[in-house]
Amino acid sequence: MIPLSIPHLAGNEWKYLKECLDTGWISSVGSYVEKFEKSVAQFADAKYGVACMNGTAALHIAQIVLDIHRDDHIIVPNLTFVATLNAIKYTNASPILIDANPTNWQMDLDLLEEFLTNATYEATNGFGEDAVTYRHLLTTHRPIKAIMPVHVLGNIGNMERLSGIANRFHLKIIEDSTEALGSYYKNKHSGTFGQLGTFSFNGNKIISTGGGGIIVTDDQELAIRAKHLTTTAKASSLEYFHDEVGYNYRLVNVLAAIGVAQMEQLPDFIEKKKYIDAFYKRELSGIGDIRFQEVNKEVNPNCWLFTFRTQRMRELLTHLNKAQIQSRPFWVPMNRLPMYSKELYISNQDQSNLVYESAISIPSSVGLTEEQLHEVSSSIKSFYTK
Ligand SMILES: Cc1ncc(COP(=O)(O)O)c(C=O)c1O
Repeated sequence: MIPLSIPHLAGNEWKYLKECLDTGWISSVGSYVEKFEKSVAQFADAKYGVACMNGTAALHIAQIVLDIHRDDHIIVPNLTFVATLNAIKYTNASPILIDANPTNWQMDLDLLEEFLTNATYEATNGFGEDAVTYRHLLTTHRPIKAIMPVHVLGNIGNMERLSGIANRFHLKIIEDSTEALGSYYKNKHSGTFGQLGTFSFNGNKIISTGGGGIIVTDDQELAIRAKHLTTTAKASSLEYFHDEVGYNYRLVNVLAAIGVAQMEQLPDFIEKKKYIDAFYKRELSGIGDIRFQEVNKEVNPNCWLFTFRTQRMRELLTHLNKAQIQSRPFWVPMNRLPMYSKELYISNQDQSNLVYESAISIPSSVGLTEEQLHEVSSSIKSFYTK
């Protein structure tokens, strides 16, 4: 079986892990946690990094530190992995789903702007220094506090325009950048456009710690609070005094050690991902009705997981999996999941579903050999010429 996207453990992982085991520093405290946080933050050109047990926990904490809670709305794309929405539900806020742009598969910014202009109004709550202005949804009269763009497959939408819209409509930005470590928009790293950004180090991501995540931010106060909340909100180094409801969302030292070793290899991983992307584009362009995800010229993506559209997606999926080439359909759009089907969904033509019904992801692991790449592309070509 040629796997879809698996970790590549070819560096100092064993060495750093052994050091943790030899010294007994395997758990929630240890030098690798801080090293890992620094290394990711530095790579993304952010001031602070707060490691978490996974990307979902990072998204959850990012909202709490921005004071998002019950009765608040958050804008998110309808085409995302379920964790984005789950994290919003953990805070009891309500998502507003925006349909996808059919070319780059990111949030449709025309729809977003039209929605904010026509379906929301501005209101200021509180007085004097405490006064805060938000857009409120016309139908619920509840504030829309944040927007959570998701950089789908490591591609990035027009972040300049999105940031402008967020500014104009008083929205904080939390980037679900979980798939976009190593992706840039106009030379600025993903995850650094708003107040907070998050990355995931799940097994299928460009680097992996088995499971893990991180929050990045330039705001020291937010970083300190995020660290506090992810470490049970313990307010004293000696006493078990906890000053608020905290979470045990720590990334343990053994996993951070793997992360440090993975970060050392990240530039090579990105290079290989770009090679895979270029290979598939060269081999598959003009084959059948294959259409690639568009990448705007301002974007330098990490090419995390090669995914394309074809009307014969279901048949091709069966063909490839039968040939021991692991392939996967795209996410079922959020408005089609039972627990999110009643959320407000802003759409004209339900493009999310059209993308879902036609998109297929194919093997993109860093460790793919030349022979395996040819096997994948030949199998796809033979499917269309049969
Ligand atoms: C878009 C998106 N959001 C959130 C997550 C959640 O990350 P994790 O699996 O580390 O919790 C993932 C990855 O799994 C993802 O792809």
